[in-house]
Order: sequence, then structure tokens, then C-alpha cells
Amino acid sequence: MSMDEFLKGFSKLNRQERYQRLIDMGILSKSEVQYLKSGGVQDLSLAEHLVENVVGFFQLPMGVATNFRINDKDYIIPMAVEETSIIAAASKTAKWIRQKGRISTRCLGKNIIGQIQIAKVKNLEQSLALLDKNKEHLLAVGNSVLANLVKRGGGLRDIVIRVLDREDGSSEKMLVLHVHCDPCEAMGANMINQACEALKPHIENITGETVNMCILSNLVDTKLTEIKVEIDDIDPEIGKGIEEASRFAWVDPYRATTNNKGVLNGMDAVLIATGNDWRAVESGVHAYAVKDGKYRSITRWQMQGNQLVGTLVAPIVVGTVGGVTKIHPTAQMSLKMLGVNSAEELSGIVGAVGLVQNLGALKALSTVGIVNGHMKLHAANLAIAAGAKPHELLPVQIDLQNLLEKVKRITLDDAKNILLRVRKEHEVNPR
Ligand code: MEV
Repeated sequence: MSMDEFLKGFSKLNRQERYQRLIDMGILSKSEVQYLKSGGVQDLSLAEHLVENVVGFFQLPMGVATNFRINDKDYIIPMAVEETSIIAAASKTAKWIRQKGRISTRCLGKNIIGQIQIAKVKNLEQSLALLDKNKEHLLAVGNSVLANLVKRGGGLRDIVIRVLDREDGSSEKMLVLHVHCDPCEAMGANMINQACEALKPHIENITGETVNMCILSNLVDTKLTEIKVEIDDIDPEIGKGIEEASRFAWVDPYRATTNNKGVLNGMDAVLIATGNDWRAVESGVHAYAVKDGKYRSITRWQMQGNQLVGTLVAPIVVGTVGGVTKIHPTAQMSLKMLGVNSAEELSGIVGAVGLVQNLGALKALSTVGIVNGHMKLHAANLAIAAGAKPHELLPVQIDLQNLLEKVKRITLDDAKNILLRVRKEHEVNPR
């Protein structure tokens, strides 16, 4: 089956048909479909390995975003998220780009950062000189802890020293060592933390100073991912609206925060599905968004002639090996569905979904607004919240959508009233 055949009418299929297409495309096997149908991981002993005081699992819905072509490669993208309309909007916007433009990504830098803090330096000049003189030795010590990573071609690359003001009115300085490490296909948190802690006694011996703490930094501006979306021959009205929406998020932190939340709607869903640490990426994205001292949009959209061009540059540090990616069967399945060959490729996909999600939101916001589309899909949630049984869902949902068309607004009370009516009608006319 070709990708075009796969995509044809995908969003209109029922669940069983969706599974079948995924099997026909070789994206999922029959046993994986069986696993998903039975609710994914059931074995609480896996949870016991992951967290403490385990009492159960918290299940999120997982769907697939379609129509994504990134760097000329097609992807079916698993997304785990509870918010209605995120997956639909990503797929719809990706379809627009697939027809009228392209998505490209690249990685800028390879190294993650570990921080080692000397809180109050006793002898600054001497410590700086000693650390500089012993840099190669310290790198070798750190790499000896990371022997497996070194074998895979990664490892510590550099130590950069920063002198910080303590901002406590004293003349003493804080010294922070940034240990740069290429983690290859891992996110690298455990590795860099181990290396930094192993370096601690050596740094104390060499300098005579006291190390207060060691930990990775999530502001990984040494390993950025750049995403670009181009749309050709865009309707100038739509392009201008998106450009103005983007400028709004660039100049106003109140808008930037919501804009970036929308970007993370997409990014987080892929991060969760692939077992990656979405809190790490979130904190990195927000910190990078304020890099020039003002919190700004992490994305930018501009008209260039009759082309709309959007960019996103952010630290999106992910792994395809190690951590939960390795031990959670659904994360493993998601990585297989994506067919990714490297962590770089995965960070490009995550960023692309974020930028495409943003485009979908800005297009809707600057044209028809998001309420109608969102509420249409939200009608099913309202029906469930009103207490509709499975066989009552569809009639309640349809009546809610009709009401929405008429009055532009629907509430839980509307859903409850419609449900009562549906039940009454059923009493009069039982099927
Ligand atoms: C809602 O989850 C996300 C949006 O608010 C994003 C945005 O405003 O750009 C629609």
C-alpha cells in the first residue's frame, strides 16, 4: 500500500479500519494491534520499576498524526495526549504543508551540558589556572566513567568555565564548570550526571575548592534543533494574518506563553508517546524562549514574497535508547512506528510537530477562530461528561454539533438536556 492510499480518508475510518490500514502499511504488526486493543501495558511490575509507591497506571489516549513529510520522508506519528483536536489539527495542517510546501529540520550541535558548582571561590585566579591546566586530565577521568558511551563514539568533549556574580552583595564569585558531552543516541541525563559527580573529588583535589552540587542543565543551547516550514503561493490574506499573529507572540509575553503552550501541545504528545522526558524539553524550550531577556514566541512566521516561512529553534534533547524509551513497550512501539534511525531524527520530528501545531493554531485563530472546530470535536467529551452511555453517545454528539452550528456555543447543561431528550425519545420509540 502506498502512503497516498494509506492517507486516503484516514480520519474518517473507524478504529478497526484504522488498525487494518496500519497493519497493511507494515506500521503495526497484528500482535502490536492486539496489545493496543487490550489497553497497552497492564503489568504493574513495570510501573514498580519506574516509580515508587505504585498503585496503578494513568492511561492517556494515543492517536496517530498523519500527512507528515519531514526532510522528504513520510511519517505516521504517535501522539499521546488528552486534549481534543490536537491530533486532528496537526494532521490537517500537515496535509496543507504536504500539498503546498515542505518541512525541513537540522541539528545545531551535539553536546549536552553538565554543571558543577563551586559556590564561593576562595582563590579565583588560581582555580581558573589549575582547571585550565588540568582540563585534559579531567576529561579523561569523566570519560573513564562513560566507557560504553566512548566506545559508541560519544563522551566528554570540553569543559567551559563560567564565573558568576553571587548577587548577595559580597565580592566572592561563584564558579560554574560546564561539562560538554556527546550522548549519541541517548538523552544523556544519567550519563552526564554520573560524569559530573565522578569529577567532583578530582576538581576539589586539584583546586582546593569545595564543589557544592553537580547536575545537567536543561538549557541545552549547545544542541539545538532547527525546524523550517515553507508554504508556497499562500493566500496573502491568510499569510498576513499568520504573520501578525506571530508578531503578537514575538512582542508580548502574555501571548508568547499561550503560543508556546500550543507548540508544546504537539511536542509533548510525541515526547510522551516515545517515552521521552517532556518536562526536560518543556523547561529547555521556555528558558530558550527568554534568551534575549524577554519571553518570546519560540516560533516565527514571516511572508517572503508569496511564500510563508516558519521557523522554530529550540533545545529538543531526546533519546532513542536508554531510560523509559527502552523499557516501556508502548514507547518502543512508537519508535518503531516512526522508523527513526537516530535521536537527531526524533528531535526533528518532535520539533516539526510543534511548529506544524503552531501553524494550525495561528491559521485558525487569525481566520475563523478555534472555538467552533474545537467544540465540534469536544461535543463527544461533553456527551460523556453528561453521562451518555456508549449507545447514546452518537445521537447526543450529533444534536450538540447541530446546536453549535445554530448558537455557536455548547455547554455541559446542553449535553445533559439533549441526553434527557434522547432517552425520552428512546422510551417512546424503543429500537
Ligand atoms: C490550546 O491548547 C492551544 C492554543 O491556545 C495555542 C495558541 O493560542 O496558539 C490554541
